[in-house]
Amino acid sequence: MADIMRDTPALPTVTRREDYTPPAWLVPTVDLGFTLDPAKTRVTARLDVRRNGDSDAPLRLDGARQPVIAVRVDGVVFNDFRLEGDDLVIPLTGDAHIVETEVEIAPERNTQLMGLYASGGNLCTQCEAEGFRRITYFPDRPDVLSIYRVRMSADRARLPVLLANGDPVAHGSDEDGRHWADWHDPFPKPSYLFALVAGDLAVNRDTFTTRSGRTVDLGIWVRARDLARTSHALDALKTAMAWDERVYGREYDLDVFNIVAVDDFNFGAMENKGLNIFNSRYILADPDTATDYDYDAIAAVVAHEYFHNWSGNRITCRDWFQLSLKEGFTVYRDQGFSADQGSAAVKRIEDVRSLRAAQFPEDAGPLAHPVRPESYIEISNFYTSTIYNKGAELVRMLATMLGPVAFRAGTDLYFDRFDGTAATCEDFVASLEEASGVDLTQFRLWYAQAGTPRISASLTHEAGGGRATLQLAQHVPATPGQPHKSPMVIPLKVRLFGAETGRALADEQLILLTDTAETIVFEAVTERPVLSINRGFSAPVVIDSDRTPGELAFLSAHDDDPFARYEAMQQLMLDTLVAGALGSPVDHTAVIDAVAATLDDTTLDPAFVAEAVLLPSDSFVGDQLSVVDPDAIFAAREALRHDLGRALSESWRAAYAVPVGPYSYSPEAKGRRRLRNVALGYIAASGADDADALAYAQFEAADNMTDRQAALTTLVGGGSPLRDTAVATFYNRYADNGLVIDKWFQTQALSPRADTGAVVAGLARHPDFTLSNPNRARSLIGAFAVNQRAFHALDAAGKGPGYRFLADQLIALDRLNPQTAAKLLPPLDRWRRFDPVRSALMKAELERIVATPGLSKDLFEQASKSLE
Ligand code: TRP
Ligand code: ZN
Repeated sequence: MADIMRDTPALPTVTRREDYTPPAWLVPTVDLGFTLDPAKTRVTARLDVRRNGDSDAPLRLDGARQPVIAVRVDGVVFNDFRLEGDDLVIPLTGDAHIVETEVEIAPERNTQLMGLYASGGNLCTQCEAEGFRRITYFPDRPDVLSIYRVRMSADRARLPVLLANGDPVAHGSDEDGRHWADWHDPFPKPSYLFALVAGDLAVNRDTFTTRSGRTVDLGIWVRARDLARTSHALDALKTAMAWDERVYGREYDLDVFNIVAVDDFNFGAMENKGLNIFNSRYILADPDTATDYDYDAIAAVVAHEYFHNWSGNRITCRDWFQLSLKEGFTVYRDQGFSADQGSAAVKRIEDVRSLRAAQFPEDAGPLAHPVRPESYIEISNFYTSTIYNKGAELVRMLATMLGPVAFRAGTDLYFDRFDGTAATCEDFVASLEEASGVDLTQFRLWYAQAGTPRISASLTHEAGGGRATLQLAQHVPATPGQPHKSPMVIPLKVRLFGAETGRALADEQLILLTDTAETIVFEAVTERPVLSINRGFSAPVVIDSDRTPGELAFLSAHDDDPFARYEAMQQLMLDTLVAGALGSPVDHTAVIDAVAATLDDTTLDPAFVAEAVLLPSDSFVGDQLSVVDPDAIFAAREALRHDLGRALSESWRAAYAVPVGPYSYSPEAKGRRRLRNVALGYIAASGADDADALAYAQFEAADNMTDRQAALTTLVGGGSPLRDTAVATFYNRYADNGLVIDKWFQTQALSPRADTGAVVAGLARHPDFTLSNPNRARSLIGAFAVNQRAFHALDAAGKGPGYRFLADQLIALDRLNPQTAAKLLPPLDRWRRFDPVRSALMKAELERIVATPGLSKDLFEQASKSLE
């Protein structure tokens, strides 16, 4: 056997988009054998390899230094292989060979949760993006598509269920209590879509009949005790399957579709062909343990992964720089699905809120990157809000510019032409362009240029009636590596309303801003116009307009676009909070009046009202300031909350008094619960004496988790003795349910109280806290780090204990699970946005992280780029 060389880890290498070359070898078919055991699993791989093109390159297989037991070429033992770094290099003379390898891996020691790993005693895989190489040596890149056959064997008592991609073809028993199963996936797929599961699982089964009349067997696999909490996910799956047929003309293609839920998972879920694997938080739900938000998220993620069967699996990505090809499009598709299940307006508000919470700061910070990045060190770091959420906004803009009919023609052409291939973002745009005849040359800049464009909008009106003039200008800010930007095409939906009559003065218009500055003229404007712009959030930009508080209040009451109405209220609130945080004298009357008008408008959907009356978050206010002052922002926001609570006390009580009735998961019931709980928050903010008692009564009487957790949140943020009682009661009631205990940690980490930092430090020593479960790590560390006031609190010595805490936790987590550690770093990357004291403290923690010996390339990339 060849000598296994162990070279010292080199400086992380950079992968560049411009360096893409097609694979030197293809693997049309692969047979995998797994002798499964948590401690030691034997993996055999039989690769049918074909030289691609005329290069004479040796066969180079990606790996992770798993011990090679044997290599055979064309059936003969072959010892002439080399291990170069992580690669297995096999010199081959001909153009077609059968290469067999045999390796050993240890799933139960796999704490990274990439490759084959153990979760709760069961075995499962996660291969996207580059996890397959941790299982076996293979060209682990998405443009190598293979047909997979899999044989698994395992101890029947410990691992009675054996699942893999595609269809089950055979199974049987061996001697010694072992059993085996063969699965065959007829669709060629890249290695990142490979999956297997072996475990002690129960199943909730159903069937779905496709529109062409084929029956698909559906199964959701969980631990037996979780079986009763799978019906919502199963319903969502069937709804999503029908939706994709109706809206995109996409039908499912295998006879079997399985979903497995696991507790330890780095992400939300994974779209492996025919065998989706989910973080259990996106499957398990019942009213007692899951909130309305959880139910919605489950349906959205189930739909997302299912939709990937076409946008991701049938058509995959040529290379990882094209990631948004599948993720941006699939998020756009799942957003459309969710919008159709309830209030489209509320869904749009939620999506924009999360874009602003995660993607806008990313675009404005040191980790900013285009939707189609140019380079990476660790691809796992590019599963970002920019790729996913901004990517979805790009597809939405394309749909807006093309209109529904041409957009559907474009997606049909794309699915048809690129089916079975590994495609690029350019292929997608070119398909839409060809099908619609719309020139998308300038639009392509959206894929290439990072940074959130800022649009200034100024409307003037000639006194005495007649002409109104809208002056628009765009500016795309510099981002790392991109100092100069070209103007983009910005689709802006615009409408004018009459300030006196409240009526729309013309139809909604779609303006395509293409130059740095443009002037748009409206004729025959008979009364003073008020500008409604970026309606429906038609472009992911920041609008700087010269609209007065009176005009914003007017729009918040009269705009006929629900998003624009919400947006006007947000802008009014934001302007007030920014002024307050800057120490200017502020008058809360305009906000109070606007909120009162919305609360009293009985024509509005309660779910919409609940969103509209919520104040922008501390961090969103911070994003508007040149220097973030967390204490001033917190104080300004609390003052406004207090005044709103007091001034509108009767309205909040009235809203709170509207009964919701026994629990049901209908859009109406969800909306009423939401509004009631927002009202409870304002009653507490008002300082009313009975607020905690009210919350505690709700906490005790609740017949669902939405109301119970909302009450807990109110109590945890307050100062009454009921706080500790509620915290203890909640813990005891749900001690055996990990997903609910995550909520318990998270609620405390998000508390607005001054002692939150100390509470969180204590919780990190709680027996139930562990870094080895990503959900648990995120529920405490991740939640705390986005709690702007608590995370940035300075102690008596002027130090930042929150910063030190986060860095300590990240360094510890990095040793177990680099991917999850790296995902939790971004709160520190905002260091340049703070005052010199905080800025220096944050920077010092980043430097400490970078200087840590043995750091992963995941955390290294995030921390070092944050310092650049
Ligand atoms: N493709 C998955 C999705 O969007 C994302 C994903 C799941 C993932 N697991 C991962 C990404 C692990 C990186 C690493 O649904
Ligand atoms: Zn996805």
